[in-house]
Formats: sequence, C-alpha cells, structure tokens
Amino acid sequence: MTVESVKPETSESAELREPPLAGGAVPVLGHGLKLVRDPLAFMSGLGVHGDVVRLKLGPKTVYAVTTPALTGALALSPDYKIDGPLWESLEGLLGKEGVATANGPRHRRQRRTIQPAFRLDAIPAYGTVMEEEAHALTERWQPGETVDCTSESFRVAVRIAARCLLRGDYMDERAERLSIDLATVFRGMYRRMVVPLGPLYRLPFPANREFNRALADLHLLVDEIVAERRASGQKPDDLLTALLEAKDDNGDPIGEQEIHDQVVAILTPGSETVASTIMWLLQVLAEHPEHAEKVRAEVESVTGGRPVAFADVRALRHTNNVVVEAMRLRPAVWILTRRAVTDTALGGYRIPAGADIVYSPYAIQRDARSYGHHLDFDPDRWLPERVKEVPKYAMSPFSVGNRKCPSDHFSMSQLSLITAAISAKYRFEQVGGSNDTTRVGITLRPHRLLLQPVQW
Ligand code: HEM
Repeated sequence: MTVESVKPETSESAELREPPLAGGAVPVLGHGLKLVRDPLAFMSGLGVHGDVVRLKLGPKTVYAVTTPALTGALALSPDYKIDGPLWESLEGLLGKEGVATANGPRHRRQRRTIQPAFRLDAIPAYGTVMEEEAHALTERWQPGETVDCTSESFRVAVRIAARCLLRGDYMDERAERLSIDLATVFRGMYRRMVVPLGPLYRLPFPANREFNRALADLHLLVDEIVAERRASGQKPDDLLTALLEAKDDNGDPIGEQEIHDQVVAILTPGSETVASTIMWLLQVLAEHPEHAEKVRAEVESVTGGRPVAFADVRALRHTNNVVVEAMRLRPAVWILTRRAVTDTALGGYRIPAGADIVYSPYAIQRDARSYGHHLDFDPDRWLPERVKEVPKYAMSPFSVGNRKCPSDHFSMSQLSLITAAISAKYRFEQVGGSNDTTRVGITLRPHRLLLQPVQW
C-alpha cells in the first residue's frame, strides 16, 4: 500500500467511523494499568482490535494507530503536530525552544539550521572521530574483564556526538558527567510521565534530589560548552557554530535560551538513542555467536586484517544488516505521539481536533502481518532480494516526514563502524549478574548488560 492510497481523508469525507474501543478497558482506569504494567505487550496487542483504536487512559481518550501504512500517513500529514503528554513532559524538563519540541515556522527554521551538519555529504568529515572512538573501545576492553555495557555505550555515544557536533576538547570529564546526568534524567522523566504525581516529585526524597541534581548539571554543562566556545573566539565549521550564528525569521540573532535549548535538544536524543542501540547490538552479538562470526569474517574480508575504517562501512553489508535487524527488534524509540491540529481522519476513522495519537515502532516492526518469522533475528531479511517483501513504513526507526530524525546517516555510520570494530577483535559472553531483559523507559534498553570480551 502506498502513502497516497492511505492519504488522510478530509473531515468532509463521507461516513467517517469512530475507531473501535480496544478490548480490556476497566472502569475508571480504562487501559491505563495495562499500559503501565506491560507497555510493549499492550501496544503489540492492539492490532487485533483494528487499524485505529481508541484507548481510555483514565478519563482521557487516546487514539492508537496499528498499521505501517497509517503510521506513515500520520507522520506525513500536516494535520498532526508534535505534542501530547510525552512532549509536554520533555519540554518542561529540557526546554521549550529546541527543535525536538517546536512546531510550525520555528521548527522549520531550526531544521534548516541543524540539517547541514547531518547531511549525507557531511558525514565523512566525522569519520576520523568515529574511527578513533570505535577503536578506543576495543583497547579499553580487555579479554576476560567484565564490560558494563550501559556506561560504556553511553560514554561512546556521548563522546561521538559531542566531538563531532560540538567539536570540543573538553571530553572525558564532561562526557562522563553528561552520561550520568542523562541516564538519571531519562529515568526520572519516564517515571514522571507514566506516574504523574506532580507535587510528590518536589518532595526531598533521595530519588528526587538525584534527579534535580542531574537535570541542573545537564543545563550547567550546556552553558559551559556554549560559554567556552564563545570565549575561544573560534568558529569551526560545526553544529555549535551554526547554532550560535543562527538568525530568526527577521534576521536577528536567536536568543540565548533558544541556543541553550537547541544544544540540549540535540545532545539528549542523540546520546540516549545511540547508547541504547549499542547495548542491543552487544546483546545480539553475545546471543548470536554465528552472526558475530559472520561479521568478523566480513570485516576481515574487506579490511584484510587492518583496523576497520569509516570508508569500509559501505562495503560491510552483513554488518549493516545486523545493525538494522537489531534496530527492528529492539528499536530505541519504541513509542511516538502526535496531536491532531484539526478535525481529521485516518484510515476512514474520525479523529477530532486536539486528540492525542500514539503508535509504537516496536509493535509495528515486530508485527507478524509485516514480517515472516517476525520474532527471529534474521539480518538476511534486509538483503536486496528480500527487502521488497517488507511493507512500506514497517521499518522506520528514524520516523518519516518533517519530524524524521535528522541523524539517520550519522547514527547508522557510527553504529556499523562500532559493530565492525568490536567484532573484528572480540566475541562476547554474558557473565553472572547480567540481565538482558528489556527495560522500558523513554527508550528501550537491556536492564543491566554485563559482557566479557573473548579474543577470537
Ligand atoms: C528525532 C530516532 C539518533 C537527534 C527522532 C525521531 C526518531 C528518532 C524516531 C522522530 C520523533 C518523532 O517522529 O516524533 C533516533 C534513533 C537514533 C537517533 C533510533 C539512533 C539509533 C539521533 C542522534 C541525534 C538525534 C545521534 C543527534 C545527534 C534528533 C533530533 C530529533 C530527532 C534533534 C528531532 C527532530 C525534529 O523534531 O525535527 N529521532 N534518533 N537523533 N532525533 Fe533522533
């Protein structure tokens, strides 16, 4: 099915129906308890009730979209904007003026400012940093020692984002702070979203104090980065310079708050998502030694034994397919929301203005209606001769449309390079105390992945 054939109907369309209510609602709480208890199973089970279904979350009605074609239509339609509980809570904590939460003309202007740093032809300039960081991992890790994959993945993701996009030589100490701050902030934000107990989060409990301290440090860190760049008088060709030099629609410099919020809005999604994906890649390499071996052999055949380079990534077809398949089964971004700006329609169903709409890339990418052997880890499903079987929008981990992640090329290059560099040197085994079950937060990641590198 193409996007055109599921283009949202206008509200004038005849015979719009009300979407069916998803099964399992209980009085007062509706579907809330199910969503909180096991969000992944809940979202994955909605497809049997309809292509668009109504959910009751307490007194509120939320609409869930369950087919790839309709998620594409939703993401591409101007009738929906970024808004809803997820974004409100992000805005309150991370700032209201960054690209990830803005809408309308401000959003378009901000995308124009940041886009050049992420364009396909801009990525090779980041190759050396990505290579250095990928190989540094293999040198830090020693055979037989336990690798704490959470902190290591955060560390490398933050270092690559900060070194490539903000070009500072203030690394390690700050990357470490940023990793710890972000991990704490994201954990607390998720709790505040699913259990919105407002005033309770202001009480001086240790968890609240830790959250507030991390959030304050995150903002302080961003102020330090901006102030240092200004004080240096230098204007390297990077994203930070683009943000500092940006003008608003009247040609005036953008305000301090917007610069600050923009840096936050790029660093925060940039590190949490990549870090979570690296954790899943490590988990996959440990769980599927046959694919770890295939990646190793591919890297060797391409490099002839020299350290893998950024320029090799394009030739590493199986490695890339391992990354894509890991992202299919364990998408870092597992839930997305939109709000209808007008009375509109999706798939023949009426969506009223102001309605919150939700969908889950996790549910879409694991749906048996789109994928044969849907739960098998099968990187070969991405081979050119088989990829045609995948319905449009059934694999959109970076989303589509005007809110599509600007960093798809930047992220895929570093993920493939890291996977290649570590697999060339090691295979991995889980060790005692490791827990690779899925931890649901703002992103999906393993609870506590502990691995031992084993030299080939
Ligand atoms: C937006 C996924 C890495 C910066 C998004 C969205 C998704 C996504 C699905 C769209 C949200 C929506 O439609 O509502 C991912 C994944 C990543 C990744 C899976 C890595 C595996 C990054 C990195 C950066 C970044 C490395 C920056 C360094 C952003 C920004 C937005 C965004 C700024 C907001 C774009 C807008 O609203 O216009 N990302 N992302 N992401 N991402 Fe990423």
